[in-house]
Amino acid sequence: MKYSNKKLSIENIKVQSIAKKFGTPAYCYSYNQLKENINNFKRSFKSFSPLICFAIKSNTNVNLISEIRKLGLGADVVSMGELMKALKAGIKPNKIVFSGVGKTVEEIKYAINKKILLINAESKSEIFEIERIAKINKKSVNVGVRLNPNVDAKTLSQISTGKKENKFGVSEKDFLELVKYINKSKFVNLKCLSVHIGSQILDVKPYENMLKALDKIIKKTNHSFEYIDLGGGMGIDYRNNKKVLNLKKYSLSIKKFLKNNNSKIIFEPGRSIVGNTGILVSKVTYIKEGHKKNFIILDVAMNDLMRPALYNSIHRILPATKSRKISNKTYEFVGPICESTDKFLTIKNFQKLDEKDLIVICDVGAYGISLSSNYNVRPKPIEILIKNSKINVINKRQKLVDLI
Ligand code: LLP
Repeated sequence: MKYSNKKLSIENIKVQSIAKKFGTPAYCYSYNQLKENINNFKRSFKSFSPLICFAIKSNTNVNLISEIRKLGLGADVVSMGELMKALKAGIKPNKIVFSGVGKTVEEIKYAINKKILLINAESKSEIFEIERIAKINKKSVNVGVRLNPNVDAKTLSQISTGKKENKFGVSEKDFLELVKYINKSKFVNLKCLSVHIGSQILDVKPYENMLKALDKIIKKTNHSFEYIDLGGGMGIDYRNNKKVLNLKKYSLSIKKFLKNNNSKIIFEPGRSIVGNTGILVSKVTYIKEGHKKNFIILDVAMNDLMRPALYNSIHRILPATKSRKISNKTYEFVGPICESTDKFLTIKNFQKLDEKDLIVICDVGAYGISLSSNYNVRPKPIEILIKNSKINVINKRQKLVDLI
């Protein structure tokens, strides 16, 4: 994204012309940024060539997933719907892993039939269920077991998953028992140890603690794991203050870990692949002057982008056309929904805005459209991918008739 002649553009396409042609709100993704993120991710870990499984939950647009597949990634899925989307996008089953604490019988059957690489189980009961289904179908199924390493990811509590009070994975005790159990089973093969400690992690220390915990438990099992699935969670620079997870440093810790453990590494990144590829273009509907601040009422709302309402997350806001006139009031950017959490950001000294002006909300490629809903009977926004300076509509704006 850059300004030229005061106009904001994404891969040389002006935000203004996108809004004029397709209306607002509009999700708009940059292919170049996507490619750069994937290349950067691969480069950072190239010394041990991991299998990179894109976490579909972060962005479930089939066209975008298909581009991600062409750039060499597999998929991490957490439901039958996500698995179907990954397959529809052309991802080969041998590059798909299935995570999640509550896989149903239907989901397990479907995953077994599709012969995906791994079902990563998260409880004893799930292993027994997979074994039961495999036995009926006279199949031998490759599984992973997700360990809860009791590590603090030092991220928001709502997206922290690796502490013992979290519902994810199994305890060390259960893990050790499961290794023994699966090793005696004819219908399940223990191929993988998986782990995922949380999301938007900016410091490498929690990952180092996680690797230490893994090292310790692997020694206790005496089992040789073909795969170690380290999950995702790599944080991105939402605040534009250059604070991102140091992938190189993380890579060095993994290399050290691999000296004792001869396994193939799997990653499940979502946010770090798509987070900064997307913007949300919106129009100012009204400006309401208050005593101390102005409310900028946008045509985008918490149903389109949940992250600020759900986690108080920061997403930068930029004007589509730059001006030098600065407002001395504080702006509160809000949506039209009748809830006080329907607000995006409060900004001091923003440039003066008028009704019908365009703004963009930044870094919405991950957990943007995938967390959106039809609350207040609001149709979901259009999704656009800019690739080679061409605009591709990769999902149409929902129509009201489909909702009513
Ligand atoms: N693998 C597993 C098992 C996961 O649960 C997740 C995310 C990922 C991989 C991908 O994590 P990432 O690389 O994207 O951090 N809605 C929240 C984030 C929830 C993440 C849930 N699990 C947000 O908007 O911040």
